[in-house]
Amino acid sequence: MSREDSAPILRLKGINTFYGPIHILQDVDLEIYPGELVCLLGGNASGKSTTLKTVLGIVSPASGSVEFLGKTVTDRSTSHRIKNGMAVVPENRRIFGDMTVRENLLMGAYLRQDQEGIEADMKRMLDLFPRLAERIQQLGSTLSGGEQQMLAMARALMSRPTLLLMDEPSMGLAPVLVKQNFELIREINAQGTTVFMVEQNANMALSIADRGYVLQTGRIALTDTAGKLLQNEALRKAYLGR
Ligand SMILES: Nc1ncnc2c1ncn2[C@@H]1O[C@H](COP(=O)(O)OP(=O)(O)OP(=O)(O)O)[C@@H](O)[C@H]1O
Ligand SMILES: [Mg+2]
Repeated sequence: MSREDSAPILRLKGINTFYGPIHILQDVDLEIYPGELVCLLGGNASGKSTTLKTVLGIVSPASGSVEFLGKTVTDRSTSHRIKNGMAVVPENRRIFGDMTVRENLLMGAYLRQDQEGIEADMKRMLDLFPRLAERIQQLGSTLSGGEQQMLAMARALMSRPTLLLMDEPSMGLAPVLVKQNFELIREINAQGTTVFMVEQNANMALSIADRGYVLQTGRIALTDTAGKLLQNEALRKAYLGR
C-alpha cells in the first residue's frame, strides 16, 4: 500500500514547544503513515526527545496540534494516548529491575483483558527475542544493556501498539548489538507495527527506515526517503561522519 492511499496514523502540525522561556520545537510538521518505519535524526539537544514527548503528551506544545488515528489528541493525557495504541521505549529503557523478564513483559500488557491474546503475544515475543526466552525468570536488573533494550522493546509490543515510539534504541550498545537490535526493529515493523524512532546513529537508522526527518535546533531541516537521505551531501557531512 502506498502511503498516499491512507490517512496518517500520526500527524504533528505547526508544533511549537517551550521549556520555560526557551523555544525548543519550532513549527514542526510531520506525518507517519500506516506500516511505515520512520526515523527522526538530529544531533544532541536538537529536540528529538522533546518531539517524542510531545507525541506522547508528556510535554504540551504552546501551539500546533497532534493528531493520532485521525483524532486531535493535543489536549489528551499520555494515558489516553497509550490506551488508544501508542507505546514507547524510552531513552533510558526503564525496565523494572526487581521484576523478572516475564513480569516485565506482563506489565506491558497491563491494560489488556484478553488472557489468551496476552499468552499468544508472550509466545510471539519469546520467539522474536530468544535471548529473553532463555532468561525468562532472570531479574531485569541482571540483564546486559542489549538484553534490557530487547526487553524494553518486547514489553512495549505486549500492549499490541498501533504506533511504537522509540528513543535512541542504539544508545549505549556495542555496534554488534546495535545491528542485532535494528534487525529486530525491522522485523517488528515487517510484522505490521508502525514505528517512529528517534536516533543519533543516522547510518543505522536510515539502513532500516522507509523515511526520515532531520531536526536541527528544533526545526525540521530536511525530510526525504531513507535512500535519498543516505545520499544527501549535507547530511553526510553533518551526521554520517564521511
Ligand atoms: N525538562 C526540561 N527543562 C528545560 N530544558 C529542557 C528540558 N528537557 C530538555 N530541555 C532542553 O531542550 C533541548 C532539547 O532537548 P531534547 O532532550 O529534546 O534533545 P535531544 O535531541 O533528544 O538530545 P539528545 O540526543 O542529547 O538526547 C536541550 O537543550 C535540553 O537541554
Ligand atoms: Mg534525546
